[in-house]
Amino acid sequence: MLDFFLADKDKAATPIWLVRAEDLEGWRSTHAGAGAAWVETSGFKGEAGKVLLLPDASGAVSGVLLGTGDGSDPLITGALASALPSGEYRLAGGFDGDPTLAVLGYALGTYRFTRYSGKPRDWPRLVLPQGVDGEEAGRLARAMFLARDLINTPASDMSPADLAAAAQSVADTHGATMSTIVGDELLAQNYPMIHAVGRAAAVAPRLIDMRWGREDAPRVTLVGKGVCFDTGGLDLKPSSAMGLMKKDMGGAAATLALAQLLMEDGLDIRLRLLIPAVENSVSGNAFRPGDVLQSRKGLTVEIGNTDAEGRLILADALTEADSESPDLLIDMATLTGAARVALGPELPPFYTHDDDFARDLAAVAQAVADPIWRMPLWKPYDNWLDSKIADVSHISDGPFAGSVTAALFLARFVEKARVHAHFDIYGWVPKPKPGRPVGGEAQAIRALFQLIRRQYG
Ligand code: BES
Ligand code: MN
Ligand code: ZN
Repeated sequence: MLDFFLADKDKAATPIWLVRAEDLEGWRSTHAGAGAAWVETSGFKGEAGKVLLLPDASGAVSGVLLGTGDGSDPLITGALASALPSGEYRLAGGFDGDPTLAVLGYALGTYRFTRYSGKPRDWPRLVLPQGVDGEEAGRLARAMFLARDLINTPASDMSPADLAAAAQSVADTHGATMSTIVGDELLAQNYPMIHAVGRAAAVAPRLIDMRWGREDAPRVTLVGKGVCFDTGGLDLKPSSAMGLMKKDMGGAAATLALAQLLMEDGLDIRLRLLIPAVENSVSGNAFRPGDVLQSRKGLTVEIGNTDAEGRLILADALTEADSESPDLLIDMATLTGAARVALGPELPPFYTHDDDFARDLAAVAQAVADPIWRMPLWKPYDNWLDSKIADVSHISDGPFAGSVTAALFLARFVEKARVHAHFDIYGWVPKPKPGRPVGGEAQAIRALFQLIRRQYG
């Protein structure tokens, strides 16, 4: 459990009331005294994320108000930790949301990226409300923090080798086995596209392969895009687009964090995690626009743009994943700018042929406040990937539906998985919200965790 959680629910602690703007008058009418008068004086209106400390007659904090605005953000409690003086607090009610999410929100608000500056601090402590599993909230928060840390770490300290070391450490902690195929060995073992994308970089490309769980259990396989830096390759990105590309291993970070959650939960599944880890770099031996690559599956792939590298490394990893006929195959990737154009940075699209999976996932995502949105694998666009000289082109030549065509490309490499879903995540918070500071973010993993637990638990 996180050290700022207090399990003793009867402990005396400063009350925190969550109030919607429209309920503020009601709160004041039932709470007389210095605190209630201070609400008036301070001009507090119950704005979302606003924290108001209520003094008693001696000037000590007798209570806290957290504005929740229209009440629509279950993680609004993320605003508390950095606004409260040290001490012990409890959620005194006034909130009708899920108390587990309120506690998770609080925990998420304690995240800081302190690798290069600043230091971890002691946070105000929160008494866990009745019925909230503090261990679970802690596991969720730590998984989110793992992914955030990995994404926030710049490529100078997060090379393909560093990413493999991070995965190894998760594997060691949870008794998973892990192997890595590095450099030219990728050619020997038939991962030609992972090699082609990563071969120009100073640190060799590699395929990370982690396995955990009982061999005969239902098979859940995760594949995460691990582009540790995306220059665009010879189709070099302009600096405005390259600046954030340390986050291009966001899919790898998310799948590693999800794997950690699944292992810590002790589910009876056979888990496999595949991370193709590369840097899309520029050198004399870089792959080129117009090249035709062999793929692991045997399809020849014409390269239209070296900046569409993610789908190439994913295709080889998906081919390997699919060969075991997994029950569930999930891939996550910061794959296209087009996904962000379609839905913005906070709502990642996902793609699947399986309507039941899509419906169940959408419902659970809503329940755990981890928003995602289904987009279509629109068959009529599939021929946009036709190539004149190869079996397939990895991009369409037009400007339209870029996230859809990327998903259609990936789908060509999956045949045997019972259910396949692809997540085109942004992996980054550009505009902060309570509990979600600017920086790396593990989108969709809490929703996936709950669904997998429900289906295989
Ligand atoms: N990693 C990028 C996609 C990306 C960019 C995700 C910005 C999130 C934010 C990916 O490798 C890429 O460059 N995709 C190209 C594809 C295009 C060349 C077909 C894109 O989206 O522009
Ligand atoms: Mn790219
Ligand atoms: Zn990329």
